[in-house]
Amino acid sequence: MQVDLRESWRIGPVEIPSRLVLAPMAGVSVQAFRRQGRRFGAGLVCSEMVSCAGLSYKNEKTLGYLRIAADEHPLAVQIFGSEPGVMAEAARMVEDAGADIVDINFGCPVRKVTKTGAGANCLDDPDRACAIVDAVANAISLPVSVKMRRGLQNGSRTCLDVGPKLVEAGAATLTLHPRSAKQMYTGEADHSLTAELVELVDVPVIASGDIVSRAKAQTVLATTGAEAVMVGRAAQGNPWALSQIMGAEGEPSREEVVAELILFMRETVRELGEQRATGFLKKFYGWYLGRGRFPRPFKQELVQLPTIDEVEQRLLAAAPGARFVLERLEDELPQGDEVLLDLPISIYGGG
Ligand SMILES: Cc1cc2nc3c(=O)[nH]c(=O)nc-3n(C[C@H](O)[C@H](O)[C@H](O)COP(=O)(O)O)c2cc1C
Repeated sequence: MQVDLRESWRIGPVEIPSRLVLAPMAGVSVQAFRRQGRRFGAGLVCSEMVSCAGLSYKNEKTLGYLRIAADEHPLAVQIFGSEPGVMAEAARMVEDAGADIVDINFGCPVRKVTKTGAGANCLDDPDRACAIVDAVANAISLPVSVKMRRGLQNGSRTCLDVGPKLVEAGAATLTLHPRSAKQMYTGEADHSLTAELVELVDVPVIASGDIVSRAKAQTVLATTGAEAVMVGRAAQGNPWALSQIMGAEGEPSREEVVAELILFMRETVRELGEQRATGFLKKFYGWYLGRGRFPRPFKQELVQLPTIDEVEQRLLAAAPGARFVLERLEDELPQGDEVLLDLPISIYGGG
């Protein structure tokens, strides 16, 4: 059965224009990544997980995660934490910042997060998980979504027990990454659980895990009944994976790859500042230039260069035609203050 990925669907009142969702990824899902994801066909994009405690302390770096551009919508901002009251306060800040959906992280398997009772740990404490969803849903007028793993231990089916309870507590959508927390990213996502979850709840389910091609996306949508598929690692340094899943054919030219990478670099510098962007971007060089697009020594050379400016010059020397692709891309992008919104002043506490 062919499923039309171009169909729109809804999370509460929010219309999602395609059945492809860009995954939240810590250390990856900056604004430039999300804007790019929307351009390449994602109907919904998501911030990386944001600490509710960091928001509550008005930590400047954490507040920076709430910067939303006008051309990202619809956009979910994901929060994590273990205290219902603090999560509710964080959700209000997310709503003020202009997000369309508040997503709650019940999937993070990293010990730094789970040891605080947050992330995937909440799956083992359904009462707390439901109290968080209930507090968040009652604090804001935006729809609330929840992203979770199958459970903590390998073979766990906890998501099937907790999922319906979360919906009862107010979740308007569930995203399931059907690996256990213990598995981290090993093995395979077992989407037979996604199909079971779809049967149990009357809200849309998003299937996350190992969606790497159009064929896989079609199969998972058709066999699970999920409303949408979420793509994570396959889109790292490779937004063309998104357009291919949506039906585009062919691979990008070297010029297109370099132009997208430079645009990404420029936007990231604007967002994070030169110093933070320099380290942040290094992993992206390998991601963009890998897949046989450029020889390995070239990637290694870029990582060694001390400034982003030098990386840009080196890239343009390797693919001079990229300059023209880049000009066209920058012309097509909406520009200006009305697009690149900054944080609402209220979030900084008025000054
Ligand atoms: C580097 C990295 C960071 C991630 N960070 C988050 C996160 O902040 N929040 C979250 O819910 N999931 C996070 N995930 C999980 C992804 O959203 C997704 O569920 C998972 O990678 C499986 O999908 P994939 O096979 O398409 O990558 C992260 C995954 C990776 C690889």
